[in-house]
Amino acid sequence: MNLTERHAADICTWRYPAPYQCYDLAGADPAYFLAPANGFFALVDDEGKLLGYRSFGPDGQVPGGAYDDAALDTGGGLRPELTGLGRGLGRRAIATGLAFGRERLRPTAFRVTVADFNVRARQVVESLGFVHVSSFAATTDSSRFHVFLLSAASCSQLRGPTSPTS
Ligand SMILES: CC(C)(COP(=O)(O)OP(=O)(O)OC[C@H]1O[C@@H](n2cnc3c(N)ncnc32)[C@H](O)[C@@H]1OP(=O)(O)O)[C@@H](O)C(=O)NCCC(=O)NCCS
Repeated sequence: MNLTERHAADICTWRYPAPYQCYDLAGADPAYFLAPANGFFALVDDEGKLLGYRSFGPDGQVPGGAYDDAALDTGGGLRPELTGLGRGLGRRAIATGLAFGRERLRPTAFRVTVADFNVRARQVVESLGFVHVSSFAATTDSSRFHVFLLSAASCSQLRGPTSPTS
């Protein structure tokens, strides 16, 4: 669903347990998440609780990667206390986001960029059918990233816990 001011304020308090602190959002500017050009959407449960967010667009890119228009970048995160539970919540969250993005934005393919150290995220995107296509060093700190692609047709079978809403 569309991300509200309340969602953005919540997201801007999130801190992740080690070694995932690089994804901390505490202190970020809520306006960044609300700007339509940045392509953020909220993932909520049946009671409206914010479970995470997904982005579609340049926020999912990392400086140093070679990106073209053949695929739509997608990124995002679960709220910190829901991560690492080994219950497949991240997989369902990403699948829900893909179904939503496919309906709403009609890309040919989706692209994700995953940090080398983040084996957990890599495991999840590969389980969804994303295929590794390239790797690069970030221009910011030379850390390594991997790029994965999934054709929109391939994700038509994927479904999350709730139907995508707009
Ligand atoms: C990345 C993310 C979507 C993963 O979802 P999750 O629900 O936390 O992941 P899970 O706990 O289900 O773990 C996924 C898999 O990785 C495995 N895993 C977890 N930590 C691992 C580690 N350190 N090394 C190897 N495998 C690991 C789990 O055992 C599980 O395997 P399985 O699918 O075979 O059961 C979620 O943690 C998230 O949104 N994090 C926000 C920060 C972030 O990493 N952002 C980057 C996104 S690209």
